[in-house]
Amino acid sequence: MDAIAVEPGAGEPALFEVPVPEPGPGEALVRTLRVGVDGTDHEVIAGHHGDVPAGEDRLVLGHEAVGVVADANDTDLEEGTVVVPTVRRPPNGPTDHFERGQPDMAPDGEYVERGIVGAHGFMAEFFTSPAGFLVPIPEELAPAGFLIEPISITAKALEHARASRSAFDWRPESALVLGNGSLGLLTLSIVTERLEYDRAYCLGRRDRPDPTIDLIEGLGATYVDSRETPIPEIPAEYEPVDVVFETTGYAKHAFETIDALAPNGIGALLGVPDDWTFEIDGGRLHRELVLHNKALIGSVNSSREHFESAAETLAALPAWIADDLVTGVYGLDEFERAFVDDDTTIKTAVEFDRI
Ligand code: NAP
Ligand code: BGC
Ligand code: ZN
Repeated sequence: MDAIAVEPGAGEPALFEVPVPEPGPGEALVRTLRVGVDGTDHEVIAGHHGDVPAGEDRLVLGHEAVGVVADANDTDLEEGTVVVPTVRRPPNGPTDHFERGQPDMAPDGEYVERGIVGAHGFMAEFFTSPAGFLVPIPEELAPAGFLIEPISITAKALEHARASRSAFDWRPESALVLGNGSLGLLTLSIVTERLEYDRAYCLGRRDRPDPTIDLIEGLGATYVDSRETPIPEIPAEYEPVDVVFETTGYAKHAFETIDALAPNGIGALLGVPDDWTFEIDGGRLHRELVLHNKALIGSVNSSREHFESAAETLAALPAWIADDLVTGVYGLDEFERAFVDDDTTIKTAVEFDRI
């Protein structure tokens, strides 16, 4: 079967012929439908994040998948069920975090991530997975089912952000998303369509006309150009915001978030930056956090429960959002187009098969 993989140093993905995998005990065989591409895939291809499986010389890409159970094997799944796989797996048998259903909270070394760190991904015509890591979804969600994994990332961040403000009567009114990539725009969609904030902002660095600005404004949010309004100036130009979701991977934004926040606000950091050394006004920022009850959290990955709530969120989002967000779905004969990352692309996917 065909698989899309990257060899370290190659700088671009390529098609490889690999054997169809055999499901082991407790595993199902899944026929892949579509697999999304995100910023992490580009970071993996560039060699800035992730790793090949131990002892291997390439990594099959893809962690945002949707497929159909082709062989249920000895599991309780039914053949023909549409499923979305979760990303993390225990490398050497179950550990506490996996047994608690919280692989997203596992420390380094206690997990591999399919398609990212130490385990092959889902960009192949078939993949196997333990049934417990396959989340059944309604068949009508299949075409956009590759959006469930990134939505689950926001679902987790939101849960942790809310939990960190749960000790008092918190009434957030405004939210700011930093970044107009696929994760940022999905997060903004959730903010405007599913949450009760009165006002939403989204930061980018693009000139009009631009499809992401159209989407931001179509969602009723305000586009903020970081070249004109640096993040620390957002409170004066617009308002101090109650919640910030950082999805740029631009390290200075993590600290600038503190200035954008209103008293009692929370910033959730999701981007994964490269190493970068720069100066910050440490004393003032520390004082801001303390004297105004502000908080910053980091959040990575997601659990099965977040996937389940993400499937509900996807089902509830107006269909035009996925239509505008997904700028291209490409078959194996033109898979390279799914990895083009320019100002005309927002979210892309590779299609391996149809239901
Ligand atoms: P992406 O498509 O590359 O999006 C990043 C966006 O941020 C781009 O649209 C980029 O704008 C914008 N941006 C970067 N620097 C900016 C600046 N200084 N001012 C304004 N906008 C800026 O990537 P993605 O798939 O959405 O993912 C975003 C980040 O989240 C990545 O670092 C990824 O690794 C990370 N991520 C983390 C998790 C997690 O579990 N924590 C999950 C998924 C992704 P331009 O396109 O105009 O350059
Ligand atoms: C994936 C997460 C993963 C993270 C860090 C993200 O793009 O969606 O599942 O934990 O990258 O590798
Ligand atoms: Zn991802």
